[in-house]
Amino acid sequence: MTLQGKTALVTGGSRGIGEAVCLRLARLGANVGVNYISNSEAAARVLERIRAEGGTGFTAPFDVSDPAAVQSAVKDIIADHDGIDILVNNAGITRDGLMARMKDDAWDQVIATNLKGAFVCSKAAMRPMMKKRWGRIINMTSVIGFLGNAGQVNYAAAKAGLVGLTKSMARELAGRGVTVNCVAPGYIITDMTSDLPGDIQEAVKAQIPLGTLGTPEDVAGAVAFLASADAGYMTGQTLHVNGGMYMGN
Ligand SMILES: NC(=O)c1ccc[n+]([C@@H]2O[C@H](COP(=O)([O-])OP(=O)(O)OC[C@H]3O[C@@H](n4cnc5c(N)ncnc54)[C@H](OP(=O)(O)O)[C@@H]3O)[C@@H](O)[C@H]2O)c1
Repeated sequence: MTLQGKTALVTGGSRGIGEAVCLRLARLGANVGVNYISNSEAAARVLERIRAEGGTGFTAPFDVSDPAAVQSAVKDIIADHDGIDILVNNAGITRDGLMARMKDDAWDQVIATNLKGAFVCSKAAMRPMMKKRWGRIINMTSVIGFLGNAGQVNYAAAKAGLVGLTKSMARELAGRGVTVNCVAPGYIITDMTSDLPGDIQEAVKAQIPLGTLGTPEDVAGAVAFLASADAGYMTGQTLHVNGGMYMGN
């Protein structure tokens, strides 16, 4: 598997799953853009690690929920790096709460970042992929989009929405050599899950046949595969990386 000569952009690349994806794609030879919204120190550390391992990359600060900011930043990246070959729509947030008490803002922010963000970033990045007749778009959904979760109607709706977006984009772009797929992690150890109380973590583990939470590296492997030439005949699919807690499709 090699991604030599390819440029990748990973949204939310400064921490957690996105960080592991950046490092993995860089190890395979891709020039990796590390996007983030506010944590410039974390993004700089990811870039340092990429370079320390002999890879190449750049940082790319922008808010995926701000369409004008996305268009301007992605345009510059395309100009500077001769296109984006691999886009990983990974940036995501949670604003949890039971629906009866959920404020509209919590709904809007999660949809704007987790779902519309992927639409806007893909739209901004896909034209050069279509021209080159090669591209990979990988959307980070979640097991929650398949199972639902009390307290996460906004997050579950956004993640389920990504699956429909992915399948429709896959049909639109297949003729241009661009594949569009999802990765659906289960419970992965990152900042997003670190504040789950201990008893909830134990309850979650009890639902995972493999018996542990996953690591960002577990997810990065699935992303790297979908980005590679080996996955060239897969499009519109979801790869589940969840220790067996959900086995449907
Ligand atoms: N952790 C899990 O168990 C799990 C399970 C299933 C799916 N996922 C999905 O996997 C993805 C990554 O999750 P994670 O756990 O690695 O999250 P995380 O540790 O909380 O990191 C979130 C990343 O997204 C960036 N970000 C947030 N809002 C953004 C915005 N508006 N524009 C640009 N970047 C933004 C953050 O940048 P800053 O560093 O600048 O804040 C950070 O790099 C998310 O889509 C999440 O829904 C996670």
